[in-house]
Amino acid sequence: MTIAQATSRLRCIACGATPASAAQDFRCIQCGDLLELVFPGWTFDPATLKSVWLTRKTSSHKLDQSGVWRFRELLPHIPEEHAITLREGNTPLYHLPRCARIAGLDTLHAKHQGMNPTASFKDTGMTFAASSAHQGGFRWVACASTGNTSASMAAYAARGNMHSLVLIPEGKISWGKLSQSLDYGALTCQLRTDFDGCVRILNELVRRKPVYLLNSVNPYRIEGQKTAAVELMEQLNWEPPDHIIVPGGNLGNSSAIGKALLEMLELKLISRLPKLSIIQAQGANPFYRSVREFGGKKLDPMTADTQATAIRIGNPASWKKALRVLQATGGEVEQVTEVEIAAAKAEIGADGIGCEPASAVTLAGLKKLRKQGFVKPGEAVVLILTGHLLKDPDFTIKFHRGDLFAGTPHEKQAVQTSHLQRAPVVLDADLGAVIAVLDAAEK
Ligand code: F0G
Repeated sequence: MTIAQATSRLRCIACGATPASAAQDFRCIQCGDLLELVFPGWTFDPATLKSVWLTRKTSSHKLDQSGVWRFRELLPHIPEEHAITLREGNTPLYHLPRCARIAGLDTLHAKHQGMNPTASFKDTGMTFAASSAHQGGFRWVACASTGNTSASMAAYAARGNMHSLVLIPEGKISWGKLSQSLDYGALTCQLRTDFDGCVRILNELVRRKPVYLLNSVNPYRIEGQKTAAVELMEQLNWEPPDHIIVPGGNLGNSSAIGKALLEMLELKLISRLPKLSIIQAQGANPFYRSVREFGGKKLDPMTADTQATAIRIGNPASWKKALRVLQATGGEVEQVTEVEIAAAKAEIGADGIGCEPASAVTLAGLKKLRKQGFVKPGEAVVLILTGHLLKDPDFTIKFHRGDLFAGTPHEKQAVQTSHLQRAPVVLDADLGAVIAVLDAAEK
């Protein structure tokens, strides 16, 4: 069944200008702020939408098999011949019983966006923005990245027969992510700078060369990423949770999820808003400080440092969009320490789920929000896990061997995590030795 898609329009989030097309850097040509896509006057019958989306789940059509394009009525129109899809989305919602107990909640769920084709949440936005590049006839796409955007972009560019240029900070992304971009055939440049330095170079580059920018300032990325929240509501039978908790880096994901929640309320797909809370690493906390110290009136860029390299970002592009949804939903912003992140990651792993370090800030932040009383024991909470455990095995192995914080200022605090460490046991190939270890573990 087909439903007519609404018409969309680009609009500047600050001055309200509505350009017919976007500039190469996706900034408003009048005031330099970010653009978003809006759908003036759209209306749907919510029950019809829900039932069409459900019917598509059993369809073999390529767009219906994607957990993003299945919800295409909520997206700008891109003709099917330009759609590049790896059947992204369709990610599981898991119950985390041990983590619930640790956080002091009756129940706790996690939507695992690391279960996407390239193992991070980026695929939901990338399928849509890469398709828009294809529609625009671009030969080259490019991004600056802490590793996941680049992995995702490289895969979608390859599927769409486009070349991709990746700018990543040298030495500060995980091998897993770097290896993905190499295998998917990207031209991969490791710049001797941090993520924010890579963004600066890329913004200059897109003004000089006909490359299509695929960072999350690209509003088509945000549109695709919106669908994670729509899929989540469908999984919850359209009964919104009380809280959704996301990690905050460049703040595209929180903006996208928040936009989806507001749009779903407007379209009467849901009847109330969950509170959307954003968690940052203490060493990469410009948004936390913006909200707490300046009431969101300004954001001071910083030099970021955290072992959760995905969110090692000091000048987040989408902070104003994130602020808007934080305020509209009544969410909180928190920061968590390196040791809190490592502990939370091991706890999520111990529920048989696992995630990469940046995703674990959600559980670490939840524990704080529980203690402060912002989250109550009987409330329904969903954590958004953004990346797969295998994205950063180095972090995990160092943690379990007890090496992660050796020689760092966090060494003393890290002692609290020793009960979570499961270092591998090296033994001779001897049955008795294995039985002795097993018996000891029993006790
Ligand atoms: N979690 C993971 C695993 C990420 O890779 C990122 C961002 C975030 C959380 C934060 O999301 O930026 O939308 O607030 N990674 C980007 C990248 C920046 O280049 O891969 P955000």
